[in-house]
Amino acid sequence: MTCILYKIYMFYSNFQFHTMYTKNLLFFVCVSLFIALLPSCQTSEKKSERTADSASVKTYISKTVFGTADNQPVDLYTLTNENGVVAKITNYGGIITSLSVPDKNGKMEDIVLGYDSLSGYLKSTPYFGAIIGRYGNRIAKGKFTLDGKAYKLDTNNIGNHLHGGIKGFDKVVWTATPTEGTEPSLKLTYLSKDGEEGYPGNLSVEVIYTLTKDNSIKIEYTATTDKPTVINLTNHSYFNLTGGKADVLDHDLVLNADKYLPVDKTLIPTGIKPVKGSAFDFTTSHKIGERINDAKDEQIKFGGGYDHCWVLNRTTKDSLSLAATLSEASSGRKMEVYTTEPAIQFYSGNFLNGSITGKGNIVYKFRSGLCLETEHYPDSPNQASFPSTVLKPGETYHTITVYKFL
Ligand code: BGC
Repeated sequence: MTCILYKIYMFYSNFQFHTMYTKNLLFFVCVSLFIALLPSCQTSEKKSERTADSASVKTYISKTVFGTADNQPVDLYTLTNENGVVAKITNYGGIITSLSVPDKNGKMEDIVLGYDSLSGYLKSTPYFGAIIGRYGNRIAKGKFTLDGKAYKLDTNNIGNHLHGGIKGFDKVVWTATPTEGTEPSLKLTYLSKDGEEGYPGNLSVEVIYTLTKDNSIKIEYTATTDKPTVINLTNHSYFNLTGGKADVLDHDLVLNADKYLPVDKTLIPTGIKPVKGSAFDFTTSHKIGERINDAKDEQIKFGGGYDHCWVLNRTTKDSLSLAATLSEASSGRKMEVYTTEPAIQFYSGNFLNGSITGKGNIVYKFRSGLCLETEHYPDSPNQASFPSTVLKPGETYHTITVYKFL
């Protein structure tokens, strides 16, 4: 704009005037043009100031296109905090595709397993980073009875129902709402229709991921239903604190649990047992590899390693308390898991066998990642002595889990 006003001035000063009258007339035209253009000049200068201002405002959450699933657009959201921790989450399956946290020297590395692109997740995935629902872990034979009515769920794991069935919450497109701020968050919502995978009731689910200032990923799960149903939501991230340089056998684990659930050979719980004196005692720190090949332990044999649910020691019901601490000496990384849930599934990646090539062309070998899935007990709908997983109309399911990096 300044440039246009300058051109008007140059035109006036260079013009060859024939008479005084034309000179005055032109002077009048130029001054009028100048006055007319001045306000818009000021507005555009103000606008450019605003653009400059907004350009300097830091963005903590951004979105890129990730692909298409079920004919719906799928995006990838990048959440960053002021310490440089970066979490990438897609609205396909609510999957945490990448999580970069600092090591002891401040070096950022991705410490979760997954794929570089959506097509990897669409082809086949052992639930990398996903939201699991309606029911985390197994329901025996895919059957349960609720209020006298028998339900038959889809079975997808040697005759049992696992992680919500054939098309669980890990394989659906969620509606995403990002919220900007120094603690960026991503709200994901999904309506699971009455009868989906055999479950009763329309279930409205909301999961909010927040990246906090203290380097935690907080996951808040909320749900309501219009018919009695069962629910057990969790997240299935595979962690490797070395950033993929080694398997997880040298990771140190503490579980705040005096009891665990032994299983049958199809991994359905058979009761509750104290961990004392067994390979399942993680009440003090133990390396994961220390007792994982204990051939004498039938439970280790059934799980092919650790694939069990630990009953958390709780002083208060439903409060957020420390469930697990995972650390790895060479990187100096440490993760604490806090939850409102009564239990945690520790799965040592026993079904990873080198057949998957993940992010950055890394082959995911045997036990190259581990899961710490906060949850209610597997098969609760069939085991009356376990805490209830029934959700009724008018009630609100609400749980929180925090993965904190130190
Ligand atoms: C289960 C395993 C299962 C794995 C799927 C875990 O949560 O406990 O038994 O194989 O998920 O990748």
